[in-house]
Amino acid sequence: MRIQSYRLFFATFALCGATLLASQTSLQIQAPKIAPTPPMGWNSWNHFARKIDDATVRAQADAMVSSGMRDAGYVYINIDDTWEGTRDAQGVIQTNEKFPNMKALADYVHGKGLKLGIYSSPGAKTCAGFEGSLNHEEQDAQTYAAWGIDYLKYDLCSFRDVMKTAPTPAAAHLMMTDAYTKMHNALLKTGRPIVYSLCQYGEDAVWRWGAQVGGNLWRTTDDISDRYASMSNIGFGQAGLSKFALPGHWNDPDMLEVGNGGMKPDEYRTHMSLWALLAAPLLAGNDLTKMTPETIALLTNKEVIAIDQDPLGNQADRIWAEGPLEIWARTLADGSKAIGMFNRNGAPVDMHVDFPTLGFTGRVHARDVWAGKDLPVMEVTYATTIPGHGVVLLRVSK
Ligand code: GLA
Repeated sequence: MRIQSYRLFFATFALCGATLLASQTSLQIQAPKIAPTPPMGWNSWNHFARKIDDATVRAQADAMVSSGMRDAGYVYINIDDTWEGTRDAQGVIQTNEKFPNMKALADYVHGKGLKLGIYSSPGAKTCAGFEGSLNHEEQDAQTYAAWGIDYLKYDLCSFRDVMKTAPTPAAAHLMMTDAYTKMHNALLKTGRPIVYSLCQYGEDAVWRWGAQVGGNLWRTTDDISDRYASMSNIGFGQAGLSKFALPGHWNDPDMLEVGNGGMKPDEYRTHMSLWALLAAPLLAGNDLTKMTPETIALLTNKEVIAIDQDPLGNQADRIWAEGPLEIWARTLADGSKAIGMFNRNGAPVDMHVDFPTLGFTGRVHARDVWAGKDLPVMEVTYATTIPGHGVVLLRVSK
């Protein structure tokens, strides 16, 4: 009940379009208990897809600890699609043979100081054709809680078949929001804090109503893939959504591809920088048991994570663009700004940022976040060369 009223309180702010300042002032007084900062963890889909099982999940949890990711803030070990079995005579969902004992797996993950996430659909079938939660919402939520689940990704997929029976697009939309609300209520009824992740690919401008149906995060796009074109189209396509993110309720531009091998180091650095600026959930999507030191360094950079996890929850906006060059900035709780200077072109380019346009007059202190170095004190402009498909990420204060 208490959580619900917090949610309504924040959702009202979000949906009435109250000023960011007003909502943030309130949030400092009453931070939400679930997802006060964007969730951090790992998800099985991007790397393992259907080839996920109990032993693999345990190995990922082990590696999250031994790699230092847990200590860097990663918490959730999320099983995506293909864990589902059939229902028993009472309708209770069973795991399939790949997951012999979900409760034991949750105990194992919890024993490592981590949390366990799971996946389902409001439709009859999941995207991979496994058993969904249609007409079993309360039962499934109770089962998840009994297993010790801490996070649910709820993926629209075959619920579209149900929506097709609606007489109008407005009625179809209502069916979808009702379906998401139904599972949210079922999760609340369990009494267990479970992060609720909406996955419906950004349809019907979900950022406008995701908080109202109880979403702690909502996918804003189609599926990411491990290519610069996919990642950058999604990441840079988030312009204009900043006002919908706030503590407890986040835009989700999909899971990370860092470490999966399809992008160059500068491209993965752009991926991490952009997601951190966007206050995006940081859900690693690689095989944590096979990481190079470079991948670990990208995923665990403390200063980058601090930007993503900044308690103000102020998502970055694109403040300047010219051809393939873009500057994005977000204000952080200590009054400093995180600034990303991005080059979407393949070749290096000289670029500069003017501090007065960012509200800084007089001397500024800037730190090159990825270099881990303070820059000399500056006044008006910082000029530097940005690698192809690369970024320079700054943290600037007076
Ligand atoms: C959809 C989602 C993905 C993943 C798959 C699983 O495509 O967007 O993130 O969960 O389903 O089937």
